[in-house]
This record gives sequence, structure tokens and C-alpha cells, in this order.
Amino acid sequence: MGLNKKKAELLVLCVCVLVLCSCGRQKPESRNHLYAGVACYNKSDTFLSQFIICLKEQFDNLGSDDFEVSMTVRDAAGSQRTQDDQVKELIAAGCNILCVNLVDRADPSEIINLAKEKGIPIIFFNREPVAEDMMQWDGLYYVGANAEQSGVMQGELAADVIKAGSMADRNKDGKIQFVILEGEPGHQDAIIRTENAVDTLKKQGIVLEKLCCGIANWNRAQAQNRMMQIISQYQNGIELVLANNDDMALGAIDAYKKLNYTESALPVFLGIDGTDAGLEAVIEGKLAGTVYNDKEKQAQAIAELAVSIIKKGKTAGEGTKAVTEKTGDVNSKYIYLPYSKVTSGNAAGFLDKESKAVK
Ligand code: GAL
Ligand code: CA
Repeated sequence: MGLNKKKAELLVLCVCVLVLCSCGRQKPESRNHLYAGVACYNKSDTFLSQFIICLKEQFDNLGSDDFEVSMTVRDAAGSQRTQDDQVKELIAAGCNILCVNLVDRADPSEIINLAKEKGIPIIFFNREPVAEDMMQWDGLYYVGANAEQSGVMQGELAADVIKAGSMADRNKDGKIQFVILEGEPGHQDAIIRTENAVDTLKKQGIVLEKLCCGIANWNRAQAQNRMMQIISQYQNGIELVLANNDDMALGAIDAYKKLNYTESALPVFLGIDGTDAGLEAVIEGKLAGTVYNDKEKQAQAIAELAVSIIKKGKTAGEGTKAVTEKTGDVNSKYIYLPYSKVTSGNAAGFLDKESKAVK
């Protein structure tokens, strides 16, 4: 009997030792492997589809023989419910970091709860959750850009064109009749860009007359439709089109083209993003300017932050500071990368930068 008890005790001890050993082994292993689950709100969005290519590129750059990096992308095609399910699947597939481009930036709770339960940090990007949600857990980060800055830059670019004695004020009434094409309602980059672009123009002494504001949800085809209606209402009376992104500015240009307007009757168009098509339109002189939404740097910040979180084996700390210091941000949960102004003089350089980054 006594011998059997001893044997049983020995067995329990062995099992414990085995369990402890395998736990001890697992830690360093998981720190040697980054598996990023990327959830995208809608891959038919031009800027985001180009962003995801950069992100893949950046993650690939950070892999090495002793640090394996992989990434899986899921497209929610505009449905938050679909995205919640996709995040569940990404977690089940073994992702140890999540990069989430929310569909509904006001509704991240389900995703936060899922990730928190498993201790998987989330780097949100491009669609910024509200501050209270970001405070739900210290494993939450945001990488993006400052919407206000893009609006100010767009306003400055527009003011430069108008002041350059160009033909912007075509009816010579001393005012610039303008139209706004706005992104999704409720998106941090829509209303803030509009407000800051308009305020900047006013501060620069430009007298404005707002004709109309159309919502086109970042989308080129929607912008074309909306703009055709606006043109039918104001005909030759539109002198400036401020679009919250390049795709909508290009959609506005498409509308004029479809209606066979001659070049001299066209307003001044300005976009934001510096997508491939946007940059080409700036080079060709169709767009007066755009504001570069630095997807390469944002993608790099996400990838570096992800690596530092995994390598440190915790959700916050030194690694995070290293990234934020580099980008000049003081708050370790948020990383904002700067925008840049693009005109025909420097647009080619931005296209170059893209092709280099993608290679
Ligand atoms: C903005 C970008 C838009 C659109 C949007 C989606 O930052 O300028 O083109 O991609 O994000 O969230
Ligand atoms: Ca005028």
C-alpha cells in the first residue's frame, strides 16, 4: 500500500514537472513568433486596400530566422457583425496580435472583450475608437494620423492656388463658391477635415460662399453621382471642390467629364490621401493638390509596435515608448504620423516612395 502511495506521489510529481517544463518552453516560443490578425473594414476602399499592401510589406521586413512573422487579413466588407466574427476566427486561428480597422468606430466592445479575455493586444488603425473605449484595457493602441492637420493642409493648398492669381474666382465676384464632398458621417476624418480646411481658407483671407455639401462615403462612384446632381443645380457656378479624400475628388472630376465640361469651366479640385490615382491626377494637373496620408509610415509604426509588444511579452511598456518617441508622440497608447502637402512640384516623389516601399 505504502509503496503504491509513493508511486502515485512520484507520478503526480512527474506530471507537474512535465507541465512546468512545457509551460516554461512555451513562453519563449510564443515570443519568437508574431502572428498578426488584420481586420479591415472594407477592402474596396482604395486607401485601405493600398494600406494593407504596405502593412504586409512592413511585417515581412521585420521577420528573420529567429523571429517568424505572419499575417492574415480579413475583409468585413462594411459589416461590424462580420468583423466581430472574423476577429473570433483570427483568435481561434492562433493570432497573438490583432490589427483592427473597425467598421463602426463607436462599436468596438465585442472585439475588445474577445481580445481581453485571451490577453491578445489590439492595435486599432485608421478608424479611431472613442477615448472611453481605448481606456477599457491597457492592451489597446491606436495608429493613425491627425485629421485636423490634413484639413489645415488642404485649406493651405487651396489658398495658395486661389491667391496665385489663378482663375479660381471665375465670376469675379470676389468670393469663392465652393462645394464639399464629405466622407462617412461619424468618421473622425470627415467632419474635422472639412472644418479645418474651411477655417484655414477663411483665416487666409479668402471670402467663401458655400453652395452645398454632399456625402459620398469616401467613394469615387458615389461622389460622381452626387456631383452630377450638384452640377445640375449650380452649373458653371462652382469654383472650388474640397473633397475629404482623393477618390471623391476624382469622382467629382469624373462627373464634369461625363457632362462634357471644357477645361476652362472646371473648378479647382483638392483631395486628401495621395493614393496612386490621386498622385497621378496631381501630376497631370487635374487635381490642384492633395495631402499625403502616410500609409507607409503608419504601417511601419503598426508593425514595429506589434513586434515590440510580442518581444517584450507584455501589452505595454518600453517597446511601445521606443516607437512613440520615434514618431514624436508622447502618449504611449496613440501614435499619429504626420501628413504632407502634395502639389505638382513634388507629387512624383511620393509615387516613387510608394513603388520603393512596395518592392
Ligand atoms: C481615411 C482616408 C479615406 C478612407 C478612410 C477609411 O483616412 O482618407 O480615404 O480610406 O480613411 O476609414
Ligand atoms: Ca466667385
